[in-house]
Amino acid sequence: MEEITTRIPFYDLIRDFLVTDSVKNLFLIRHGETYFNLEDRIGGDSSLTPKGLRQAQALAQYFKSKSIPFIYTSKKKRTIETAEPIRDLQPNCSIIPLEEFNEIDSGICECMSYEEIRTQMPEVYYARKRDKYNYVYPCGEGYATMKERVDRGIKKALFLSGRAENIMIVGHRAVNRMILSHFLYRRTEDVPYIYIPQDKFYHIVATQYKKLFQLGPYE
Ligand code: G3H
Repeated sequence: MEEITTRIPFYDLIRDFLVTDSVKNLFLIRHGETYFNLEDRIGGDSSLTPKGLRQAQALAQYFKSKSIPFIYTSKKKRTIETAEPIRDLQPNCSIIPLEEFNEIDSGICECMSYEEIRTQMPEVYYARKRDKYNYVYPCGEGYATMKERVDRGIKKALFLSGRAENIMIVGHRAVNRMILSHFLYRRTEDVPYIYIPQDKFYHIVATQYKKLFQLGPYE
């Protein structure tokens, strides 16, 4: 288990939400493997592969002994299918799909593989490579333009969770990077490269003087 502990300044509303009179745990999970992942395709609404379902079941076993009253997902099948086995092993748990946690909208590149984008739309591919944080897909979004709605989703999730001790979000690669950017100090241009695996989850605990940040395997 990797562990990073640092002091944090107090100006960020989202981090402040986690710091209340009781310690809150934020479990940030990426959906399991999908059929699109196998082909390196982006966007769309692909389902989990058998391996992705096994990853979801492993998560469910791992979290069985913890109380997870709400799981926030996107509206996409891959996050809901990852959350369902977790919910099924909890005595009292609801899945709340929020469109604010949908993956980055890749506009005219939706459902394409990175290789198809490179060969069919090289201007898109190389412009994004030059400035991934600020680049906005034609008819879609960029990291910079999705920030506001992802932040809205986090605030909604934290508000709906009330005094719950554990908060779980099952999101996507770009969405989870945006969420993590509130806790990890990264230059904006580095945010699109934060490591977001499918076989590990992030556990974030924020107290008044420090944050505890762990990246742990669940299998
Ligand atoms: O479908 C979108 C991808 O998961 C986002 O990853 O920003 O590294 O292309 P990327």
